[in-house]
Amino acid sequence: MLRVLEHPLADHIITHLRDRTTKPVTFRTLAYQLTTMLAIEATRDLATEPKAIETPLEPATGRVLAREPIAVVAILRAGVSMVQPFMDVFPDVSVGYVGLERDHVTAVARTYYCKLPPLAGRRIFIVDPMLATGGSATQAIDAVKRHGGVAPRLVCIIAAPEGVAEVSRNHPDASIHVGVVDRALNSRKYILPGLGDFGDRLYGT
Ligand code: PRP
Ligand code: URA
Repeated sequence: MLRVLEHPLADHIITHLRDRTTKPVTFRTLAYQLTTMLAIEATRDLATEPKAIETPLEPATGRVLAREPIAVVAILRAGVSMVQPFMDVFPDVSVGYVGLERDHVTAVARTYYCKLPPLAGRRIFIVDPMLATGGSATQAIDAVKRHGGVAPRLVCIIAAPEGVAEVSRNHPDASIHVGVVDRALNSRKYILPGLGDFGDRLYGT
């Protein structure tokens, strides 16, 4: 299942992320803001339970989040930019990391690091801003499932149609939440129009 964030503010933020003149300091802020919106959208169906409180005027019954453990798994390195917004919205999350890097020539990703908390019984959000060929996301979902994760949600800022198709083919149970789906990949497997290399723009490398 693919869910696209359709919101004027998301369009505004993504346009400034794409802009080649946007400097890393602003780029990081925009990535934080968009991820916060994605985190809210991707958690729409979290369970809640009733809670009795007193307002300054009278007793009332509201709803609060049920105690459902959440894990965020970031794909290094660019996915690190998406961890803090999740932790700020959901302070009790457990965080794991999968290090994946695409080969500059073949664009095939290889895993170089994996540190995951126990994932059985948790809601799992895998975060990586760019979904291009889908190779990195597929390997990250493989790792999550090996650690007991079920039906993870993949949260990305920009996706290519090719990446959405690849992840859906390999992991039909994984839902995909994105800011926008772009046109296509170029011959070097970069997303068009995209925003270039997210990690480089984030860290000024
Ligand atoms: C980027 C991006 C994704 C991956 C997407 O990472 O952050 O992880 O490419 O491409 P794919 O869908 O074709 O696998 P990159 O490999 O450039 O590493 P970095 O985050 O360390 O810069
Ligand atoms: N990774 C990026 O950072 N950008 C792309 O366009 C594709 C993969």
